[in-house]
Amino acid sequence: MDTSAYLRSHIRTVPDWPAPGVQFRDITPLLQDPKVFRVLIDTFVHRYMDPALRPDVVAGLDARGFIIGSVLAYELGVGFVPIRKKGKLPFTTVEETYELEYGSATVELHTDAVKAGDRVLLIDDLIATGGTMMAGRKLLEKLGAQVVEGAAIVDLPELGGSQRLTDSGLSLFTLVDFA
Ligand code: PRP
Ligand code: ADE
Ligand code: MG
Repeated sequence: MDTSAYLRSHIRTVPDWPAPGVQFRDITPLLQDPKVFRVLIDTFVHRYMDPALRPDVVAGLDARGFIIGSVLAYELGVGFVPIRKKGKLPFTTVEETYELEYGSATVELHTDAVKAGDRVLLIDDLIATGGTMMAGRKLLEKLGAQVVEGAAIVDLPELGGSQRLTDSGLSLFTLVDFA
């Protein structure tokens, strides 16, 4: 089995959650199995150790992006910065509001989280409409950073987010598609 199929086989689909019609792709079984979790992290580490892609900083999207982003930053030997849902960060922030597959949200980033010119890897667990990753990218760019790539475990291509993100000029790397 290739890596994508192996990871896919450890993602659970929960129908009609959190709202009717949503097929929720749950990554918790993947995280729970230490062998699969290691394959996941090693796959990202291998890609981002490459000098052409190695970031100065990893930015993780609240909340599931924190789980993989912080481990990846540790392994790459770079810092981790959290992009959080509104009202959680204590220092001065920049903010962006965006639409989700089910609702809307505002995210924030500390104004000193990155420096102008920093090369940032932006990471989350999943891309649906792409709104979350787009908002994260805007926050990083407001502070003058350069997003070298957006990465996620799962892409839901039918929701159009990955297309929207790549059309906007963002390089994207995802491991598992659910069509
Ligand atoms: C989920 C998922 C992604 C986002 C993807 O987060 O973890 O961050 O939705 O959707 P999008 O591409 O349409 O923006 P959510 O905010 O639901 O919750 P979380 O706090 O569990 O990460
Ligand atoms: N975030 C947005 N849509 C999602 C889905 N279908 N499964 C898991 N997380 C999501
Ligand atoms: Mg999320």
